[in-house]
Amino acid sequence: SRSLPLAGKHVLITSGPTHEPIDPVRYIANRSSGKQGQALARAAYEAGARVTLISGPVDLAPPDNIHVQRVESAAEMLEAVLSHLPADIAIMAAAVADWHVAEQGAEKIKKDGSGQPPALHLAENPDILATIGHHDSLRPELLIGFAAETQNLIENATGKLRRKKADWIVANDVSPETGIMGGDRNTVRLVHTDGVEDWPAMDKPDVARQIIARAAKHLSSR
Ligand code: C5P
Repeated sequence: SRSLPLAGKHVLITSGPTHEPIDPVRYIANRSSGKQGQALARAAYEAGARVTLISGPVDLAPPDNIHVQRVESAAEMLEAVLSHLPADIAIMAAAVADWHVAEQGAEKIKKDGSGQPPALHLAENPDILATIGHHDSLRPELLIGFAAETQNLIENATGKLRRKKADWIVANDVSPETGIMGGDRNTVRLVHTDGVEDWPAMDKPDVARQIIARAAKHLSSR
């Protein structure tokens, strides 16, 4: 039988949002269903890879045959990613929160009756994609990031490609009228150092299969 395109390869994927605790009962989060990340994990498994999925909190059932590690915060996600590298391909599809609450109380914050709401002091989260992109020894052969933007899509994606040292950025317009956020379809543009490819609108599993097929081709051509 013909061997599968990613047989013997390890693919690591981040997916879903992160939750950044404010106190024991509240959190800050990004919107992310985790659908595109899980579709990538399935597609990589179907292509023969060993797959590790590091997922923030999502409402989806975990995919079969895939090692899933659930995390809450960006700090936990980074630690999980580092502990599962090396990988041949890493795809950072998670919508990681940019900030966490700097001083988390051990107790639930209560209204104090003064009418003055509490101030939240935020601190920047680690950039997982950039950390891996700049890593001397653990950088995967192919490192793929996502860019969800509501304006200046290609300009922003190209900036991310360079700053985070990714090989490819999968860019998508997530303006509310597109219905991409939480929806089942996606229209993406693949941004790499040689240019930009416009892909037609597809279901998220098809986007995932296309990305995985391209990734397999990239590895075999090196
Ligand atoms: O800068 P922005 O959040 O738009 O970049 C998106 C890309 O960077 C995605 O691939 C996302 O998973 C990754 N990212 C990350 N860690 C962060 C922020 C973003 O890995 N703290």
